[in-house]
Amino acid sequence: MKIPFLNLKLSDLKVTDEIKESVLDVIERKEFVLGREVVEFEKEFAKFVGTKYAVGVSSGTAALLVSLKSLGIGVGDKVLTSPFTFTATGEVIANLGAKIVFVDIDEKTYNIDVEKVKEYIESSKVKAIIPVHLYGLPANMPSILNIAKKYNLKIIEDAAQAHGAEIELKVESKKLKVGAIGDVGCFSFYPTKNLGGYGDGGMITLNDDILYKEILKFRNHGRVEHYLHQVLGFNARLDNIQAAILLKKIKYLAEWNSQRKQIAIWYNEGLQGVGDLILPYVPDGYEHVYHLYVVRTKFRDKLMEFLKQNEIGTAIQYGVPLHLQPAYKNLCETAGDMCVVEKVAKEVLSLPIYPGIKKEDIEFITDKIKKFFQGV
Ligand SMILES: Cc1ncc(COP(=O)(O)O)c(C=O)c1O
Repeated sequence: MKIPFLNLKLSDLKVTDEIKESVLDVIERKEFVLGREVVEFEKEFAKFVGTKYAVGVSSGTAALLVSLKSLGIGVGDKVLTSPFTFTATGEVIANLGAKIVFVDIDEKTYNIDVEKVKEYIESSKVKAIIPVHLYGLPANMPSILNIAKKYNLKIIEDAAQAHGAEIELKVESKKLKVGAIGDVGCFSFYPTKNLGGYGDGGMITLNDDILYKEILKFRNHGRVEHYLHQVLGFNARLDNIQAAILLKKIKYLAEWNSQRKQIAIWYNEGLQGVGDLILPYVPDGYEHVYHLYVVRTKFRDKLMEFLKQNEIGTAIQYGVPLHLQPAYKNLCETAGDMCVVEKVAKEVLSLPIYPGIKKEDIEFITDKIKKFFQGV
């Protein structure tokens, strides 16, 4: 049996016809930029996340860039984030002339270590923090909110991998979705994401009226009226064809996320106690949406090779933490040592997880993994 790491065709089966129809409609109406579908999709997405506003942008990277710019972050400002993320998270900070400070991760959740954030902030002035909800698991937002309040920090949630992930906030005893907790939430609709388009796309979610106006401006060339540009902005608009596609797909997002959770349960059942495997950890009150199902083992490279021989696709997210990437040389600071992320990066392995993958596929994979560990 051959099992690819990713198969986007399976989840698309039921939406393809609807999508073709609505894309044709946009083509016939010639409404390509900031059209009706963008507005409708923004409304739907804001409703899904639970924020007052959502602003469609051209990618998850653009969402981060426009958000930081609109919050006034620029040259000389320090922004804390995790080194265990896709490069976009760090890239946007440096591209605005701000200083990146990488903080080590928590060994269980793989998200930013809030104790280390606290230690750093006590001795150095910081403007903002970008918690990344890695793999679909929310970062420790209750602690991050407390820190941000105390030190007057802006919070830009990188929710690119976590559409629909939730967290119970003890103080208010209510569940909030990621993207509705910090000052802004940044989402990606890259095709492989839990909600993916047929190209690039992104979204910024927020509640603040004034910030909303800033974001609208920076998304669209600093424009306040046609050909009146108040500030230097970006061309970061969401394409109307992408919005038409995403508007059809968002109806299935909750169902697809439930399927991902079920697949994670099958993996957990099959892999509990196998070899030295460390399975995903989900703290109480946290809702993981399993953009990725990631295990850890000291035998990572050998296991990956074994699964490849058995025609099972896997991937490594991420093998080189950002502070060790050539692009960040001389562009970042590290808050203390980075021993956790450097260890974890050598041990993580992502297994196939996507809507439509069958229980028998997961059983096949877990059986092969058991077989591998019998031989080590
Ligand atoms: C954690 C994280 N942040 C940001 C991004 C950037 O999103 P995009 O590829 O849509 O620009 C990604 C996309 O892979 C991501 O995984």
